[in-house]
Amino acid sequence: MLLNVRDLDVRYGRVHAVKAMSLNLAAGEVVAVLGANGAGKSSLLRALLGIERIAGGRVEFDGKDVTSWPASRRVKEGLVLVPEGRRAINALTVEENLLMGAYNRRLTSAVKKEVDEVYDRFPNLAARRKSRAVVLSGGEQQMLAIGRGLLAAPKLMMLDEPSLGLSPRLSEEVFVAIGELSREKNITILLVEQNTHRALEIAGRAYVVELGRVVAVGSPETLMSDGTMLEAYLGQGKATSAMSKRLKVAS
Ligand SMILES: Nc1ncnc2c1ncn2[C@@H]1O[C@H](COP(=O)(O)OP(=O)(O)OP(=O)(O)O)[C@@H](O)[C@H]1O
Ligand SMILES: [Mg+2]
Repeated sequence: MLLNVRDLDVRYGRVHAVKAMSLNLAAGEVVAVLGANGAGKSSLLRALLGIERIAGGRVEFDGKDVTSWPASRRVKEGLVLVPEGRRAINALTVEENLLMGAYNRRLTSAVKKEVDEVYDRFPNLAARRKSRAVVLSGGEQQMLAIGRGLLAAPKLMMLDEPSLGLSPRLSEEVFVAIGELSREKNITILLVEQNTHRALEIAGRAYVVELGRVVAVGSPETLMSDGTMLEAYLGQGKATSAMSKRLKVAS
């Protein structure tokens, strides 16, 4: 297992945001975390990165117990978060923002090559490499956030709602890019998404969380064939044609 989480707890004073969550990811998997607003998804990712205090439980990454490690050390180990809300530094250029992702690596030619790879993947960023990040559109900012994550050389990339606020076309570009990272760069993906159907199209498995607890886990087909699950969490009736096709194959 690349990531093994046991009974993770996160609390904010009296708010118990993550309640004994357990999950695991094998190397190469794409796994989605689905759930309503306030379910504890971002708290989970932030705790896994080490920027939220872990009140209980254990996090193993790549065979090491990282539960008490600071975030910087986890990032160095390849555990990387593309946070909610993109967080570009507006005063810096696109390229400077990208290089921030590599802050704990030496600026070798390998890093420069990776910057070029990001530009190949996201041509919009290449065209604006010397511009300040403030000029970027929402979708371009998300591409920058993903590019910055890539520069940290992730084994596991956690993405918190990468399609939030994007037009359907730009969301699609982001989803395609995530699929490619998994297939071509063999990066393991933990994806938090409100766009349930699109997430279930690229994920091999998904965890459904409610009020800080994991309430279901399984393949997209299993989850979508559970009537209660569909109605309660997965927005029945909005299944895309691709999802319907997968369901037909499964049944
Ligand atoms: N810094 C904080 N201080 C106090 N409470 C917090 C804090 N951050 C989150 N919470 C609370 O913890 C719970 C889980 O929040 P979290 O942001 O993890 O949910 P989420 O599943 O990511 O929601 P969304 O889909 O809206 O992003 C919520 O009740 C939220 O109000
Ligand atoms: Mg969130």
